[in-house]
Amino acid sequence: MKKRILTLAASLAAFLGAAAAPEPAIVPRPVSITMGEGAYRLPENLVLRVAAADLKPAAEIAAAQLESLLGARPAVVCGKAKRGAVNLSLDSALADEEYRLEVTAKGVDLRGGSPRGLFHGLQTLRQLVAEGREIPQLRIADKPYFGYRGMMLDVCRHFSSVEEVKRFIDILSLHKINTFHWHLTEDQGWRLAVGRYPRLTEIGAVRAQTVVGHARTSKEYDGKPYGEGMYYTADDIREVVRYAAERYIDVIPEIEMPGHALAALAAYPHLGCRGEGYAVSPTWGVFDDVFCAGNDAVFEFLEAVLDEVIDLFPSRYIHIGGDECPKTRWKECPKCQARMRAEGLKDEHELQSYFMKRIERHVNSRGRQIIGWEEILEGGVSPTATVMSWKSPQAGIEAAKRGNKVIMVPSKFCYFDYYQAEDTASEPFAIGGYVPVSKVYAYDPYDQLNADERRAILGVQANLWREYIPGMAQVEYMVLPRMAALAENGWSYDRKDYDDFVARMQQLRRLYDRCGYRYAPHIFR
Ligand code: ACM
Ligand code: ZN
Repeated sequence: MKKRILTLAASLAAFLGAAAAPEPAIVPRPVSITMGEGAYRLPENLVLRVAAADLKPAAEIAAAQLESLLGARPAVVCGKAKRGAVNLSLDSALADEEYRLEVTAKGVDLRGGSPRGLFHGLQTLRQLVAEGREIPQLRIADKPYFGYRGMMLDVCRHFSSVEEVKRFIDILSLHKINTFHWHLTEDQGWRLAVGRYPRLTEIGAVRAQTVVGHARTSKEYDGKPYGEGMYYTADDIREVVRYAAERYIDVIPEIEMPGHALAALAAYPHLGCRGEGYAVSPTWGVFDDVFCAGNDAVFEFLEAVLDEVIDLFPSRYIHIGGDECPKTRWKECPKCQARMRAEGLKDEHELQSYFMKRIERHVNSRGRQIIGWEEILEGGVSPTATVMSWKSPQAGIEAAKRGNKVIMVPSKFCYFDYYQAEDTASEPFAIGGYVPVSKVYAYDPYDQLNADERRAILGVQANLWREYIPGMAQVEYMVLPRMAALAENGWSYDRKDYDDFVARMQQLRRLYDRCGYRYAPHIFR
C-alpha cells in the first residue's frame, strides 16, 4: 500500500513537472524516507563539517569510505555548518542510535542522537553515495528496533588474523550490527594469550592435525599441525577493540566453560577430572573431557583468566559459554562428587549450575554481566544472567518467561555455517542444515511471546562456527548476504517486507562488489 501511494505521488509529481526521485534502496530499511524533488550533486572537494571534535573520528572513517566511492577523500573540518557541505552534529532529542539525514539543494545535514547514531547515519549516506555523486533530495528518519544486533565469529576451529577480523568488523558496521561476539577458546584451539598461563597458547593453540571431510563420518586426517602462532596477544586484542569502538561496535569475548575445554586441558592437565591424557582435538564434536567442577584450582584458573579478559575488553558482557558439557567425567570424579555432596546438589546439572553461578559471581564482582548459551538454564540459572538461545527458540522463550534477558540465535534461522542452498553439491562443503536468506529474514524473535515476555528479548544474533570454514573468502560467502537479512530483522523488525528487501539488495550488492566482499549469489539470480 505504501508503495502504491509513493508510485501515485511520483506520477502526480511527474504530471506537475516536478521530478520526484524514486525512493533509494537502503539496507537495513529506515523508519521513514520522505522524498524531495531533484537531487543534490556532491561537490568535487567535498567537506565533512563536524559540529564538535568528538564527532571527528566517525567523520574520518566515513571520509575514508567515501573516498573509495568518490575517488577523492573528503576533508574533515571542525566548525559551524556550511552550505554545500555534509554537516554533522548531535541532536539531544534523538535516541542513542537514532539519526536524521536531510539532503536538500543546500547540502547534507546529518544529526545523530550520539556519535554512534551519527555513525549509522554515515553508513546510510555511504549507501546513497555508492549509487553516484548525485544523491536524491530527501529526509530520512531512522533508528533500530532492537538494541542488540550481533554476529559471532569462531576463530578457534579456524583462525582469522587481526586484519581479517577488522575486515569482518567493517562488514558488521556496514550493516549497522553493533555487537561482535568473539569466540576465542575451544577444544581445537585456544586463541587468546593469557599472561599468567602461557601454555594456553604455547600448547593449546596447536592441534597435531585436522580431520578431513565431515567429522561425523570421516576417519581421515591431514597429518599437518594447525595453529602455531595463531592466537591474539594483548596488543592484538586492544587493537581490535579500538578498531571496533571507532565503528561503535561492542566486542564481547567468549571464554568457554566447563565444556569445549580440551585445548586448555592439554595445556594444564590438572584442570580436568582425570588430570592427564589430553590433547588439543584434531576433530570436531562434543567431548567428555571438561573442566573439573570439584577442583578449586579450576576456579582460581578461570577467575585469573577472566580478570585478564576483563582488563582487555571494556564490554558490559563477558560470555562464559556453558553449552554442550557432557556430565560423563563428573559422574566418575571423586572431587566432583564430593562437591555435589558438600553443596547439596542433587545431580550433575545442578553441579553445572553451581559452576556457572560461581563464575558469574566473580564476573559481577568485577562490574560485568555474563552471557551464557541456553544450557545455563539447566539445573537453575541466576536471574541476572543473559541467555543465548541457540538450539531452538524454545529455550529463549522459557528464559524470557522466567525473567532472564535473552538474545535469540536459534540455529534453524541464525546459524550461518549451515548451507544457503538446497542443492548442497553446488555449495562450499558445510556442516549441514539449510538456512537460506529468506529464512533468516522470516525469523520472528517474538514468536510465542506475550507483551511482557517480549521485553526480555534484547535482540538477535547470527553465529559463524568455523569447523568447515577455513578462510576469509568463505567466511564472507557464508555471512553475505544473510547478514543483511539479520540486520533488517534486528534494525527494521517492525517494517519487514521480503520482496522489497530482495529488490533493495541489488544496490547493496553493488556496494559489496565495490568493497571486494564475497557473497552467495542465490537471491540475486
Ligand atoms: C553451540 O552452537 N554449541 C552454541
Ligand atoms: Zn571432576
